[in-house]
Amino acid sequence: MSILNSTIADPYDVLVVDDQPMIIEAVRRLLRSDSNARVHGCGLALEALARAKDLLPAVILQDLKMTDGNGLDLVTAYRAEPVLAETSVVVLSATEDPQVKAEAFARGAADYIEKLPPLVEFVARVKHHARASRAQKQLVHAAVAQAEAKIEAEWADTLIFRMVEMARLRDPTETAVHVQRVAGISKILFEAWAKAHLLPDSEYKSQQRLLRIAAILHDVGKVGVSDLILEKSGKLNELEREKMEKHAKIGEGIFSGSRSKFDDPAAEVALCHHEKWDGSGYPQKIRGEEIPLFARIVAVADVYDALRSRRAYKEPWPRERTEKLFAEEAGKHFDPELSAILLANMDEVEQVRDAFPEQEIHAI
Ligand SMILES: [Fe+2]
Ligand SMILES: [Fe+2]
Repeated sequence: MSILNSTIADPYDVLVVDDQPMIIEAVRRLLRSDSNARVHGCGLALEALARAKDLLPAVILQDLKMTDGNGLDLVTAYRAEPVLAETSVVVLSATEDPQVKAEAFARGAADYIEKLPPLVEFVARVKHHARASRAQKQLVHAAVAQAEAKIEAEWADTLIFRMVEMARLRDPTETAVHVQRVAGISKILFEAWAKAHLLPDSEYKSQQRLLRIAAILHDVGKVGVSDLILEKSGKLNELEREKMEKHAKIGEGIFSGSRSKFDDPAAEVALCHHEKWDGSGYPQKIRGEEIPLFARIVAVADVYDALRSRRAYKEPWPRERTEKLFAEEAGKHFDPELSAILLANMDEVEQVRDAFPEQEIHAI
């Protein structure tokens, strides 16, 4: 049932602004048939706006000719108040003049009811306006919730990229563009994998967001590795290599204690992105599907991007040479299914690389 068709199950307030107490009483009597309607009266135009702002009613029934003020001016005043944006303002008047009616609508009235229609019609119209008020309120709340969620997501992204910046201070190869490319290539691999494994769309979407964060942060554990090792231009000796390999375990530690749903996949990827399909990787030397899927995906994306990029010790590999390596290493270094997916989607993968060129740092 849509919110516009929903019935008003909760109590709602109706403010009757009329200088004739008998009209307020009559409305109270008419609306007695709706147990959810709570009728409030206000006999003075001068007090009406303050009462409305205090009560925030679903519906205001506004008289036009009051001894101490003009009802049309009050309609304008209500409509100018942001706190009354969800209130339906309805003119309730004995005046039948079409010009006056047009003026009331022009000033923002939602309806014009001539005093006083038969009970069934009156109650139906007031209920209709209470429903409209509720629908408006729900729309506003949904928009606010959406805006808040967007701000939260942006805030999370900002923090994540700040973490990447911290890692880059230690290891210049861990640039914002590198991690964005790893995330982009990972997405292509996971999308094709999800299709092949008939993963429901909603599941794919929620998992994809987790994978993106985990891929971006795969090497963040390098913040715990000594500069001397990270900045060494020559080959690492045995001891240095051992220390370098600790970045996987350090990365896992950063996400331990699982404070949010992002922590577990980020910890898995940080720990396992150097494991190899045949068990010859590190740090746990696990093999095949013992290696979490996201880590297998990020391993492919990370190595692909590293090979295709310039490093202090090497020129970028050409596409064909890189493809050849992935074909050869399928089932050895890499998950053979993911290697095949990579090779089948090379154009898209290269588009990700083009979208994040080396010199350009993308804003969050
Ligand atoms: Fe790494
Ligand atoms: Fe990397």
